[in-house]
Amino acid sequence: MNHFQYKNGELCAENIPLAQIAREVGTPVYVYSAATFTRHFKVFEDAAKDLDHFIAYSVKANSNLAVLTLLAKLGAGADVVSGGELERALRAGIDPQKIVFSGVGKSKDEMRAALKAGILQFNVESLPELLALSSVAIEMGKVAPVALRINPDVDAGGHEKISTGKAENKFGVDIRLAEEAYNTIRDLPGVTTQSVDMHIGSQIDSLAPFEKAIDKILKLIKKLRANGHDIQTYDLGGGLGITYDDTNDAPPLPAAYGQMVTEKFKGQNLKAIFEPGRSIAGNAGILLTKVRYIKSGGARTFVILDAAMNDFIRPALYSAHHDIDPVVINKSTSEYIDCDIVGPVCETGDTFAVLRSMPKMSEGDLVAIRSAGAYGAVQACEYNTRPLVPEVIVSGNKFEIIRKRPSIEDMLKAERVPDWI
Ligand code: LLP
Repeated sequence: MNHFQYKNGELCAENIPLAQIAREVGTPVYVYSAATFTRHFKVFEDAAKDLDHFIAYSVKANSNLAVLTLLAKLGAGADVVSGGELERALRAGIDPQKIVFSGVGKSKDEMRAALKAGILQFNVESLPELLALSSVAIEMGKVAPVALRINPDVDAGGHEKISTGKAENKFGVDIRLAEEAYNTIRDLPGVTTQSVDMHIGSQIDSLAPFEKAIDKILKLIKKLRANGHDIQTYDLGGGLGITYDDTNDAPPLPAAYGQMVTEKFKGQNLKAIFEPGRSIAGNAGILLTKVRYIKSGGARTFVILDAAMNDFIRPALYSAHHDIDPVVINKSTSEYIDCDIVGPVCETGDTFAVLRSMPKMSEGDLVAIRSAGAYGAVQACEYNTRPLVPEVIVSGNKFEIIRKRPSIEDMLKAERVPDWI
């Protein structure tokens, strides 16, 4: 359930008509609903209520400071993957003891910053990374708390570009090498461990891969404990899928996922960490955009928007389906056409939908690209020297710009032309 619903034929974000935001802020613009973020976070919390746990929201999904502050106030921790994300989480007021640091290639500077902040744990993905962390911690006179990210060799399905839990993926330590790796941590100064970590993929649409991976890791934890490692925490990563396409998607609900994990954890004496990103942020945002031109008469009808692949890359990069809806429903919208919905960037891949049946549209009409709250604004770039899309958050009857649209001047000011050119 999300708070982008029609009221009197007008699509609204909570109580604000999207047309009003378009008028006041311009398009394209990302619009988020605070109530939807809150709801999704609480639904996840509720799903895990019978577990000793906390939620480390995966900052990469939507890292706007306003969003992080909202989640921090609800008690969220953070899963970060860079010094930049760490800084965002700290500025948003997230408790460092609820921050986990993931990623295959952390730099020593990032390790220093995280040790200084006193984060809960580093999710370490390789032996060389472990050695680097050990040396940084010794140099700082600290001991770094570590969880090894285990690659359980489970196929989570979904798009190949976001699958992470198979042995051939770059992520984590091969489960067959895990026992040895934990012994290495024990023998190494500057690092200590009480935790195991995994993350097997994203937009996972069934519980089966999670169950398979959890079974494997619980077996491993048993062995590690038998080897004398005091494992107390199991970080399950993120990955729970969401509904992008009402007619075709039926991912497990957080409640079913929570129940499954609760069953598996029974009697294990383990604390759970969850790192959801998409399931919190995905349906809490839309990309509001305007029809610039409609080109028809040839092989296809093209609806050309003012948003493009640089603003929202999921359809181009993962062939992702996103529902696209008119913002205003009127008489002409009862007539349907099949069209390609595209952006103005000079690439054929700059396409949001192919042969989509859409209510008939005219130049200047507003449309909402749905489910764009996760991996939307965070993956935007300035390709074609297009300014980064601004972001707006709505709460009830009020809204606020939480990232402004840069001017062309803002975009060019970091560039230098050397004297010798
Ligand atoms: N934890 C780790 C270590 C991760 O790498 C990720 C996502 C998450 C948690 C959160 O996963 P989620 O709950 O959001 O599935 N850009 C892609 C998604 C990449 C996901 C990367 N890792 C997309 O637009 O679909």
